[in-house]
Amino acid sequence: MTITTCVFDAYGTLFDVSAAARTAAQEDQFPKLAERWAEVANHWRLKQLQYTWLRAVAGAHTDFWEVTQNGLDWALEATGLDGDPALRQRLLDLYWELQAYAEVPAMLRALKEAGLQTAILSNGSPAMLDGAVQSAGIGDILDDVLSVESVGIFKPAASVYKLVEDRFNCSKSEVFFVSSNGWDAGCATGYGFHTAWVNRAAEPVDRLPWTPAHILTDLTPIPDLAREQ
Ligand code: LAC
Repeated sequence: MTITTCVFDAYGTLFDVSAAARTAAQEDQFPKLAERWAEVANHWRLKQLQYTWLRAVAGAHTDFWEVTQNGLDWALEATGLDGDPALRQRLLDLYWELQAYAEVPAMLRALKEAGLQTAILSNGSPAMLDGAVQSAGIGDILDDVLSVESVGIFKPAASVYKLVEDRFNCSKSEVFFVSSNGWDAGCATGYGFHTAWVNRAAEPVDRLPWTPAHILTDLTPIPDLAREQ
């Protein structure tokens, strides 16, 4: 079965999530962030994801904007930067204007030119995803933006991955799912999608029952890989 539909995780995959802390660290009003922005970005991302998994297991769903704020508050306290409301607000504002990685527009355009359907499938709330898509200017090369909010549970719940088949009226074997989160790509393999993990930071493979079919350093090879599946 050939691939008809190429689906991307959003945060960390199409959009550079560390850009918020990196950008604020370059601004004159936040000198304390300059030394610690990488640590803040790392804690922020890890706590944000942990809270999605914990809320899914505990049956206590809330939207991704709330866990994004909760993760940031933990990160700022852990790094001793929690006493500056202007810094907190600036970091949160920047999260709505994340830039896409440089290769994203050409990669999505190549998929569209090859006749494939393209979409985002993300934990993000519809409003957050709309902000990021608008700010990256990629709305016209995506057929849809699917949010977990339609099923009320975070990844890697199977009901989230199923949104793709329901929306595009396709089978699992026609879907190529791409994520920068090793656990997301691994669990999507277990679900039945063709998968690629974009491992920009050269991290170890997650020890899960399933592994991503392809491991890449950026998104450039995706159009060729989609044709070869
Ligand atoms: C997302 C997170 C997991 O966009 O990166 O779904």
